[in-house]
Amino acid sequence: MSRTFFDKPVERKAAANPLGLKQFDHIEFWVDDADQWRDFFVQKYGMVPRAYGDASTGLAGRRAHVVGQGRVNFLVTEPQGAGPEADAVRAHLAKHGNGVRDVSFRVQDARHAFAEAQRRGATAVHSLVEDDHVVTAAIAAYGDTIHSFVERKQSGEFLPGFRNVPGGIEDREINFAMIDHVVANVERMDEWVTYYEQVFGLDLFMHFDINTGRSALMSKVVSSTDGWIKMPINEPSSQNSQIQEFLDQYNGAGVQHIALLTPDIITTIGEMRKMGQDFLDVPDSYYDEQFEERVGKIDENKEVLRPLRILVDRDNETGYLLQLFTKCVFARPTLFFEVIQRKGTSMGFGEGNFRALFEAIEREQMRRGTL
Ligand SMILES: [Fe+2]
Repeated sequence: MSRTFFDKPVERKAAANPLGLKQFDHIEFWVDDADQWRDFFVQKYGMVPRAYGDASTGLAGRRAHVVGQGRVNFLVTEPQGAGPEADAVRAHLAKHGNGVRDVSFRVQDARHAFAEAQRRGATAVHSLVEDDHVVTAAIAAYGDTIHSFVERKQSGEFLPGFRNVPGGIEDREINFAMIDHVVANVERMDEWVTYYEQVFGLDLFMHFDINTGRSALMSKVVSSTDGWIKMPINEPSSQNSQIQEFLDQYNGAGVQHIALLTPDIITTIGEMRKMGQDFLDVPDSYYDEQFEERVGKIDENKEVLRPLRILVDRDNETGYLLQLFTKCVFARPTLFFEVIQRKGTSMGFGEGNFRALFEAIEREQMRRGTL
């Protein structure tokens, strides 16, 4: 595996944040059953219902729940009745299965972001909608994914066409603070790196090539100057790559995983396991003596991490991260989630774990005499 960090440009472009991006606002999933996926996030991710929309609240052709925790908001939307809005969701489901439709950004000024994005070459998907609380519009991104811009003028309804659900109290010991990063799988990585540079003014932050012998991929990460928005973009570099499998199963480019930042991964993973969320199988040999050699000194006790199968990766002398990946959540093997905790100056994505996991599996096979 090789990895390169790019030095920040000495002289920054005049408009380092030309669209006025602040952070991720929400992720919208188009799904077959909005109630089922609301319950999934409530029961297994400790989220609470925050808003609801359908024809009675002014949402045409769709039924949707907003569930959230901390600054994380997920919108799960199913088609309802007839009409172009319902048909668009149904066509998306037929082509992709359940998946992410919208990776939405909070912006200072949605009118400006929408106009400036188009001036910089983006394609409009939804024109401006404005009410007393929110201004929103959307542009096209990779595959059938879109980016909506959300400007929140004052606290009020979540989005036009929604009613807030009062009184949701977060009562689980799962503490998702925010979305750490959103990862795209695409056919041609450089095309989309250029898109994020030109349209959004994001910087190429790092790139890495991963080749475990079983699966190869290349990844480039674009990020905002302040680091609040980080988006790795993967491209397959072998036919048996897990990225190629995603592209085949999803029928094109789309969101591969969403990483949720927690301040206490030990408690969060413990609680999610108790609630029945399945995670990636990690062989016990991952915690062999190679573990200490690779990650160095960490605050956590390895014997606490081991039963929970939490992974560790050091990205520099003063920073490391703890992470674990869920199994694919939908019927097709496409989207999964990551739970991540960052310590010190961590800014990586766990690249070292690809090789560490691969080698751990090989050690298990050798012990069983199958390699
Ligand atoms: Fe990740």
